[in-house]
Amino acid sequence: MTPEQTPHALITGGSSGLGLALGRALDGLGWTVVTDARDADRLAGAIADTDVRGIPGDVADANHRRDLAAHVDDLGGLDLLVLNASTLGPLPMRPLHDYAPGDVGEVLHTNAGAHAALLAVLAPRLRPGAAVVGISSDAAVQHYPTWGLYGASKAALDHLVLTFGAEAGHAAYAVDPGDMRTPMHQDAFPGEDIGDRPLPESVVPRLLALLERRPPSGRYVAADIAPAVPA
Ligand SMILES: NC(=O)c1ccc[n+]([C@@H]2O[C@H](COP(=O)([O-])OP(=O)(O)OC[C@H]3O[C@@H](n4cnc5c(N)ncnc54)[C@H](OP(=O)(O)O)[C@@H]3O)[C@@H](O)[C@H]2O)c1
Repeated sequence: MTPEQTPHALITGGSSGLGLALGRALDGLGWTVVTDARDADRLAGAIADTDVRGIPGDVADANHRRDLAAHVDDLGGLDLLVLNASTLGPLPMRPLHDYAPGDVGEVLHTNAGAHAALLAVLAPRLRPGAAVVGISSDAAVQHYPTWGLYGASKAALDHLVLTFGAEAGHAAYAVDPGDMRTPMHQDAFPGEDIGDRPLPESVVPRLLALLERRPPSGRYVAADIAPAVPA
């Protein structure tokens, strides 16, 4: 692959969990991958043995989103944008009536509003044929006690991503990855043994298959996407 042919991806939240697993996989496939996370040291350590480019920062910060856009300009555009970074909000998870007003804004902004703003700033930088993936959750469409605010933010993200796809003509997918054995999942279930949950690496082949097959834009559950059969 020449540098001009190398596909480019930006994944928010790539120092851990699904974002890291996907970034590492795309890097291994020859993509140029840009990612971010707030903890600069953890980000640097997580991608140290890869060619993934880490840009530390908070996706909720407009200055950081401008940094990401400047980096994408240096690359010459994007072929894949994955909106993955996410917060559960204050822990432990709690019923809606126990949220402080500031918590509501923080969760909705990080998980949905900031990603809408990132979509807006990156829209002119998406190359023809680019795809946008919002990492969703079953909580976006089901109503579990204590998951209301997070679920609402994921429902909003789904709506934003899929509307953007319809408006901009790019393939757009809201993907529920299912439960994964990650720090976020452990945060949601403190003290619980989450060793039976699948690793985020198990979701990556399903995301890659989605991107390869390019079904109609829409909401997908990762477990329903057959991974590609190795040649
Ligand atoms: N794990 C599950 O069971 C599960 C189930 C359904 C859906 N999901 C979704 O899957 C996605 C990945 O979750 P995960 O479980 O892989 O999480 P994770 O292991 O906790 O990783 C989250 C990543 O996002 C980064 N991040 C968090 N807030 C950020 C911000 N404001 N700006 C930039 N980066 C930020 C984190 O680094 P810093 O903390 O250093 O910023 C980290 O790199 C999320 O959208 C989550 O909602 C997860």
